[in-house]
Amino acid sequence: MSANPRPLKPAASHQALRRATDACRECPIGEHATQSVIGEGPLPAALMLVGEQPGDQEDRQGRPFVGPAGQLLGRAFDELGWPRDQLYLTNAVKHFKFELRGKRRMHKTPGQREAQACLHWLESEVQLVRPRAFIALGATAARALLGRPLSIMQLRGQWLDSRFGPPMLVTLHPSALLRGDPLRRESAWDAWLRDLAPASAWLSDATEDAP
Ligand code: URA
Repeated sequence: MSANPRPLKPAASHQALRRATDACRECPIGEHATQSVIGEGPLPAALMLVGEQPGDQEDRQGRPFVGPAGQLLGRAFDELGWPRDQLYLTNAVKHFKFELRGKRRMHKTPGQREAQACLHWLESEVQLVRPRAFIALGATAARALLGRPLSIMQLRGQWLDSRFGPPMLVTLHPSALLRGDPLRRESAWDAWLRDLAPASAWLSDATEDAP
């Protein structure tokens, strides 16, 4: 485990983590969000998938990946044959950052200061989930798990050593596929599944083959 902003705290319960993140005002985002959104899934889980931050729907429902990006992720799990009961989904940043355009709340990428302030919550969550491997969905997640910036396009589909110990597979955030060129949607989807596929080896019916 490499440099973290504060010493390791023993992870409390999942419920305590939710309460603590809800009350967190270590950066300005929390004040404007409806609530914090921590991860969901089994404890422990084979794979911990980490996104960027909750979106508009996640903020309202208090659950990760319930909007369009989550639907795409769900389709990928189905195609890859990944059982949901081995997958824990969360985000690097626990509150929704947005800017208002009229009445619409438009997603705003969290800054490094905000991601850094949230890192100890992610770390507490990792201690509860005890994943065998991580999947970093996009640059914010990959940087939080790795501890330094990286190029997703150069490293997608590759395993790296995470700051928390277990290996991490890097790929694009599902929103990147939603935003991509509609003419290339199918090839982008296939490439994304190819990135994700090596993580199948960490699921428990593949325990014996796990790298
Ligand atoms: N995007 C994310 O990174 N996380 C979510 O929970 C939803 C959208």
